[in-house]
Amino acid sequence: MVFITILLLNLLPSFRGEPQVPCYFIFGDSLVDNGNNNGLMTQAKANYLPYGIDFPGGPTGRFTNGRNIADIIAELLGFDSYIPPFATATGSNIVKGVNYGSGAAGIRDETGIQLGGRISLNVQLLNHLVTIARITALLGNKTAANEYLTKCIYTVGMGNNDYINNYLMPQFYPTSREYTPDEFAQVLIDQYKQQLTTLYKLRARKIAIFGLGLIGCIPAELGMYGTNSSACVDTINNQVQLFNDRLKPLVDELNSNLTDAKFIYINTTSISSGDPSVIGITVVNAPCCIVSTTFAKGQCVPGSVPCRDRTKYVFYDNFHPVELVNLVMAGRSYNALLPSDAYPYDIRRLAQIVETNIGFDVDYKVNPEPDQDMGHEAEDGELDSQ
Ligand SMILES: *[C@@H]1O[C@H](CO)[C@@H](O)[C@H](O)[C@H]1NC(C)=O
Ligand SMILES: *[C@@H]1O[C@H](CO)[C@@H](O)[C@H](O)[C@H]1NC(C)=O
Ligand SMILES: *[C@@H]1O[C@H](CO)[C@@H](O)[C@H](O)[C@H]1NC(C)=O
Ligand SMILES: *[C@@H]1O[C@H](CO)[C@@H](O)[C@H](O)[C@H]1NC(C)=O
Repeated sequence: MVFITILLLNLLPSFRGEPQVPCYFIFGDSLVDNGNNNGLMTQAKANYLPYGIDFPGGPTGRFTNGRNIADIIAELLGFDSYIPPFATATGSNIVKGVNYGSGAAGIRDETGIQLGGRISLNVQLLNHLVTIARITALLGNKTAANEYLTKCIYTVGMGNNDYINNYLMPQFYPTSREYTPDEFAQVLIDQYKQQLTTLYKLRARKIAIFGLGLIGCIPAELGMYGTNSSACVDTINNQVQLFNDRLKPLVDELNSNLTDAKFIYINTTSISSGDPSVIGITVVNAPCCIVSTTFAKGQCVPGSVPCRDRTKYVFYDNFHPVELVNLVMAGRSYNALLPSDAYPYDIRRLAQIVETNIGFDVDYKVNPEPDQDMGHEAEDGELDSQ
């Protein structure tokens, strides 16, 4: 109880003074999407009630009742407003950061396609190039922009949909016939490694990578696979663990190979383990809202009335946590409660690091021009479908 109290006290946002870093860029899926899917043709949207019922101003496209993980991390970093979605960010607003998150998106380009449009990680990186060009224009020259970009915090949380909306859907995707769980985890890691290296080449230096959650415990999978008297679908959690097990060594590899890179690993499993009743949560296996059984299956039925007490549930719909769980997730990734929450340290310490040698002149010689590199990535991107 004492720890929880301390945790929640630390979560009180401090809107006084300057943020701890000048900018925060967000790459990810529906756990961070704050409106990027609103204009897409897709079932993966949340710009209607009861989503946003506890958010100031109501529904925005966030897949929860209130704030999402990226919102809370932005508050903890001391920003005085939320980071704008790429889809609508304009003007000098983008200098403090942009949120590229997209529901149903994955490391793999095809992930989530059965739901419609989505912005895969490859396309999120292309969108970041657009932002960089705008920032360069705002700051006056490329050198100033490059130096600025090294000071920002970047969070990347990808891979959940490569399981939920790909590998675990054999009726839509061949991956589970093409790859064993072990092979699939490796294929994802290999592609992720390239994408994270691209982000580094675009001058990102302080990068927090979120591991995958306990996907075998979400109501959508409980309903589809049955639990065989366990609390979760253990086979799914074991498959996802194969990915997480490779993610931490990847962080070490990126840190040792890439000059001045500061990658950290957020252990979502560690943060979501433990007894949720300690913070008053009593329902762990059913959604708070009434979920659709047809169109946008597992998401809240538009206009339906959700559970009265949103702090008693883990899940808002069949996939996404309620705001209280987002508070814990963001709070412990920012300020680790257990040593296993963040490796080698948490986002708070990542923000405190003063760049000693950003080495942008040297980088120019040893790395390919970002633009050339991205031209390469674009070949298998999904620009058309967005
Ligand atoms: C780039 O802009 C910065 C800050 O605006 C300025 O100090 C610097 O002299 C400029 N460098 C070049 C090469 O124009
Ligand atoms: C259910 O659990 C039993 C005992 O652990 C195991 O033998 C069986 O294979 C499991 N069935 C499924 C469908 O997972
Ligand atoms: C790190 O360097 C080793 C040895 O050169 C190489 O095999 C590996 O692919 C590199 N990894 C990354 C992420 O660049
Ligand atoms: C994550 O934390 C759990 C403890 O909850 C630990 O068992 C696991 O090894 C950690 N995973 C990684 C990749 O560090």
